[in-house]
Amino acid sequence: MKIDISDLHYSYPSGVKALQGLSLQVNPGERVAIAGHNGCGKTTLVRHLNGLLRPTQGRVAVGDWDSADHSAAGLAHRVGYVFQNPDEQICKRRVWDEVAFGARNLGYSPTRVEELVSWALSCWQLEPHRDTNPHDLSSGLRRKVAIASVLAMDTPILIFDEPTTGQDSHFFKQLIAVMNLLRQKNKTVIAISHDMDFIAENFDRVIIMGQGRILLDGKPDVVFNESEVLAVTFLQPPQLTRLAKGLSLPVEDCSIEGFLRALSGG
Ligand SMILES: Nc1ncnc2c1ncn2[C@@H]1O[C@H](COP(=O)(O)OP(=O)(O)OP(=O)(O)O)[C@@H](O)[C@H]1O
Ligand SMILES: [Mg+2]
Repeated sequence: MKIDISDLHYSYPSGVKALQGLSLQVNPGERVAIAGHNGCGKTTLVRHLNGLLRPTQGRVAVGDWDSADHSAAGLAHRVGYVFQNPDEQICKRRVWDEVAFGARNLGYSPTRVEELVSWALSCWQLEPHRDTNPHDLSSGLRRKVAIASVLAMDTPILIFDEPTTGQDSHFFKQLIAVMNLLRQKNKTVIAISHDMDFIAENFDRVIIMGQGRILLDGKPDVVFNESEVLAVTFLQPPQLTRLAKGLSLPVEDCSIEGFLRALSGG
């Protein structure tokens, strides 16, 4: 399902112009990372995709739907959004109910809800916590519950708003495994992240935002070579890209494999 955003402007009631004429297309099945300095409008942008915010000017289309014609509840059939802060999302007193919440709201049959919740819990090995109150879990587990509840909605588009913040390497490994499962299901994944190494390793496309606009959009290895633009946004290219530059290596992609290939001359 394609996303088509054209000339999107958004001003908060306080007068802050958070988005200032932003256009973007995302094709079905793409994996897109969004990065940029704090307050540049990343969350404001993605909240337009599920109708939590409405354009001040411009148009947001999700598939053949103009978002202006659909409620947030309607758009939830197409776009699942994991909040930047899981505690803003979690509303149930039992993990199983929390993970089932979105799927139930979409009107799925009890059998389908049961299947999707079991799958989503297993993605994060959350089964031992199924009867726990999410608020009694660690922050890492609460984030997993928040992601699992969006996985269980089985939407064609999933948005993760800074999923990696403050998480350990085990969480990263599980998140990458979950993203690979989503790739097999041909889901569109949009993730906001400040972690350039995570982006370089796991995304086909990266968008760099600055002050409510898109500054760069392309393959990670191309975007991460634009060190002057990145410096304006207070972002540093991934460590491997910087190391390759320092060694004058012609790195074609900024993954570990790409770096090793360049290092061995092939
Ligand atoms: N509810 C709100 N009311 C008023 N201004 C807001 C609100 N939410 C965000 N803003 C402002 O809008 C701008 C964009 O904020 P947004 O949260 O979209 O940025 P972000 O790129 O997601 O930042 P971060 O990296 O800190 O999560 C900022 O100037 C922010 O202070
Ligand atoms: Mg944000």
